[in-house]
Amino acid sequence: MTHSSNVDAKQFRQALGSFTTGVTVVTTRGTEGEDVGLTANSFNSVSLDPPMVLWSLDRKSSSAAAFMAAEHFAVHILASDQEHVSNQFAKRGVDRFAGLAVERGHGEVPLLDGCSARFECRTSYRHDGGDHVIFVGEVVSFDSFGRAPLVFHGGNYGLLMKKKTADVEDASSSFGDDWLGFLLGRAYYQMLMPLRAKVERQGLGDVHYNLLSALSMGDDRSVAELSRLVEITGHRVTDEHFEALATCELIVVEDGERVRFTEAGRRYAIELMAAGKAAEGDAERELDYNEARLLKLLLKRVIRATGQTLPDQWRKENFWRENNVWGQAAAAPNAAASPSPESPRS
Ligand SMILES: Cc1cc2nc3c(=O)[nH]c(=O)nc-3n(C[C@H](O)[C@H](O)[C@H](O)COP(=O)(O)O)c2cc1C
Repeated sequence: MTHSSNVDAKQFRQALGSFTTGVTVVTTRGTEGEDVGLTANSFNSVSLDPPMVLWSLDRKSSSAAAFMAAEHFAVHILASDQEHVSNQFAKRGVDRFAGLAVERGHGEVPLLDGCSARFECRTSYRHDGGDHVIFVGEVVSFDSFGRAPLVFHGGNYGLLMKKKTADVEDASSSFGDDWLGFLLGRAYYQMLMPLRAKVERQGLGDVHYNLLSALSMGDDRSVAELSRLVEITGHRVTDEHFEALATCELIVVEDGERVRFTEAGRRYAIELMAAGKAAEGDAERELDYNEARLLKLLLKRVIRATGQTLPDQWRKENFWRENNVWGQAAAAPNAAASPSPESPRS
């Protein structure tokens, strides 16, 4: 069949790419009993009763003969962490099933796991669709696993962010809402409020908290090193800060030089860590797993964009030592629940 059209193929593809889809892997069993599959985003729902779905396959595809002959096929809606599966099933000349666990479904069709939803289908119709064939399948069984889906838009993978009514209402609720610096600062301030309240009950403040955090990532550091690590947060560290922590018996400063946790200090740092985790959990309450990932990815972009001229002071190896408190807390999981040293001297 010849179609004469003056449509620019590249521009047409680009325009089609503005339609956002999920990503599926469609599988079947070949005529020789081999497993066949490919990545497809042409999937769509068709009918509820009877339950039917469709997708389209390039006539030139190496999988065409198998699907044209197959009585059954399975559609896997990929989850957000299955980008590698999508890439693998779009590659030529590789074993697309390599490294993946395969079960058998209707017609011995290979079934993959880890996806968001899975539809097993009996081929009902094969329609002409130009250089593609449209497969319509009746769904004979399906599974929905509730995992967040992988998204495809304009030739790129994406992450899904659900809009909430409150997002729109909030947009006009605060004077600084259009200023990223305000939003970052306010979110950070609010997120740490419970922690701040906790350290304030000890008569301590942000700098003390930051000193304890730096020490918990590696005990036994010099005063100069700790000060340098904390000062990258924009806080100025003075002798009084160390003295206050020593007076609370959270640290000892040996010869005015080496700083170490006391036993109470170590317990307090573990408690702060648990409170910090809880604060982070509260902050993410309105976000699902994917949205939390999305937020962190976007913040990392901002960090990359704004940090080009800075020496990389935040690198983990600058903070992290073998003798960090976090590893010790994981080794003794009840430590975080041990009695609070709110008054460490009592
Ligand atoms: C996100 C994505 C969506 C795709 N959607 C389809 C599709 O709907 N139909 C199709 O025939 N090929 C689609 N492809 C291409 C195939 O997955 C595969 O790359 C192509 O068929 C080349 O291999 P083959 O010649 O062995 O089939 C898609 C590829 C990607 C990465």
